[in-house]
Amino acid sequence: MADNKNLQSVLTEKRLFAPQPEFVARARLDPERLQALHAAAARDHVGFWADLGRKELSWHTPFGKALDDSKAPNYQWFGDGKLNASANCLDRHLGAKGDKIAIRFEGEPGDRKNYTYKELHAEVCRVANALKSFGVKKGDRVVIYMPMVPEAVMAMQACARIGAIHSIVFGGFSSSSLKDRIEDAGAKVLITADGGHRAGHIVELKKAADEALSQGCKTIEKVLVLKRTRHEVAFDVKRDVWWHDVVGQQKPSCDPEWVDAEHPLFLLYTSGSTGKPKGIQHSTGGYLLGAMTSCQWVFDLRDDDVFWCTADVGWITGHSYVCYGPLANGATILMYEGAPTVPDAGRFWKIAQDHAVTIFYTAPTAIRALMKLGDDWPKKYDLSKLRLLGSVGEPINPEAWMWYHTVIGKERLPIVDTWWQTETGSIMISPIPGAVPTKPGSCTKPLPGIAVEVVDEAGEILRDKDAGGYLVVTKPWPSMLRTIWGDNERYLKTYWSQFHNKYYVAGDSTHRDEDGYYWILGRIDDVLNVSGHRLGTMEIESALVSHPKVAEAAVVGRPHEVKGESVFAFVICRGERPHGAEAEKLAKELREHVGREIGALAKPDDIRFADNLPKTRSGKIMRRLLRSIAKGEEITQDVSTLENPAIVAQLAGKA
Ligand code: WTA
Repeated sequence: MADNKNLQSVLTEKRLFAPQPEFVARARLDPERLQALHAAAARDHVGFWADLGRKELSWHTPFGKALDDSKAPNYQWFGDGKLNASANCLDRHLGAKGDKIAIRFEGEPGDRKNYTYKELHAEVCRVANALKSFGVKKGDRVVIYMPMVPEAVMAMQACARIGAIHSIVFGGFSSSSLKDRIEDAGAKVLITADGGHRAGHIVELKKAADEALSQGCKTIEKVLVLKRTRHEVAFDVKRDVWWHDVVGQQKPSCDPEWVDAEHPLFLLYTSGSTGKPKGIQHSTGGYLLGAMTSCQWVFDLRDDDVFWCTADVGWITGHSYVCYGPLANGATILMYEGAPTVPDAGRFWKIAQDHAVTIFYTAPTAIRALMKLGDDWPKKYDLSKLRLLGSVGEPINPEAWMWYHTVIGKERLPIVDTWWQTETGSIMISPIPGAVPTKPGSCTKPLPGIAVEVVDEAGEILRDKDAGGYLVVTKPWPSMLRTIWGDNERYLKTYWSQFHNKYYVAGDSTHRDEDGYYWILGRIDDVLNVSGHRLGTMEIESALVSHPKVAEAAVVGRPHEVKGESVFAFVICRGERPHGAEAEKLAKELREHVGREIGALAKPDDIRFADNLPKTRSGKIMRRLLRSIAKGEEITQDVSTLENPAIVAQLAGKA
């Protein structure tokens, strides 16, 4: 974007929701304690994190120096300390919490299994010993390509236990994505399953893994295969080993390998705006501290909670808020393998009821999808155990927020809209549920010890509270990414060079309002410039979705002779997709509606109705694709990562 000075937020959301007194009364952080944390961090940023690092983590060798910035922006935290992430997540709970349930699992077909901390520890040790028997050593990479089953968490913890670096590839990725990631990481072992259950089908994981390996991946020596779906799969006896054959025979104990705090805990590949996926490298000590403290602050995690983060372990949210954060806190997590609508649209709510879920953390795309299915589904189930709701992954439009608040939260539960990224490792900006009043659509304010600012095009920090521009982080934080695996140049270029290594550049544009609340407007290239007015696509989408006939909308810019850019909206209706005269009438109505909600300048020139949006399997809308369609370009992009590739023709107006 060219100039941020007049980045405008024209969506005026004035509703404010204060935490309920009964929540505040029991909260880990009330306004006073939160204020004390902010003050401590402001007084001594490094000392603040050093104190937390000593208090929250179990060290084998305590660290002396908390932050080493001699190679900035390759920062190092707690560098001379030694610890083990798995020992922090499991061993230290074996005394007081040994018989507490660590994982409650429900498969899509309805099978259930629980693991106590003792049982999980024993299983993790067995898997760790199995990996050792394959010759896996500290620093070796292990790729995990599995369904959302407890064994996926065991595999992660087992790697951490022996100092191997795991890299999870989301089970929805194709064989060629898997191959690229295995090769970039140079992995020695692949852990997979025969398949997984998803939306009533079997996800053919082993088949895709075999395809990937047949195309290259020369570094892979062994493939550990979990039997999950029990359908027939090909098996190469020289290379493949069944999980139940090898893991069951191992000893249920395995000494943790003590690693330096900076030892890489995992790589997680994420796509950039261009080029091949980046292997985001996270550390052991700093990462774990961020995941742990954010669980306490943002989710108010307590001993009697059942914490359900619906993210797959293939995404960062699944790393930090399924596996590492909650387990390091000794919490009970819920894992669900499948789709939210199998066998019917009440599945999520039934699970929440049956497992007495207290904290529910999901993505706006899921919230909107569930909203579209109607209020009757959640109303059928007893959701009275829920005490906190969360959202992550994209801006949540105020309409979806309000639905979450009223229908699921019964106007009583706090909602934490958490902003963060694969790169940040843990939550950066979010309400503290017992202390910060929320505004629908705003992720509110940075957490203690997280120094966020808004800067303009020249990198000047905008000191006014009310400001719009680039979101940057001005001080290093423990759970920050350390580098891009094998490509430190790209790390420097992508995240630091824009403002001369002074700030971490998140790549999001933001507006901060007069109360100091942050509103994420989207990725930098999601900002439109219409007649010299900068508009976040998300604001227009929210306006559209606030119309009673609209379920979901995606807005992109299209080059326009006079205005610079015009607004192109893809709209999904509640109920049937309108056609012909009916579509024209509704389009007109929607234009007027956006005009009323935001102003005439935001009215979409084009509105196209479709049955669905093009989404990646993680639920992100493929805006790049929509931009091409809006421009009328021939689609030459790879659509294989789409959840629903068939939708492309319809969006292009050809079906
Ligand atoms: C977006 C997911 C608005 C943002 C944890 C960010 C959000 C990108 C929010 C990172 C939120 C994430 N409000 N936008 N609460 N959370 N984003 O790496 O654009 O999959 O840069 O990490 O998602 O996506 P990632």
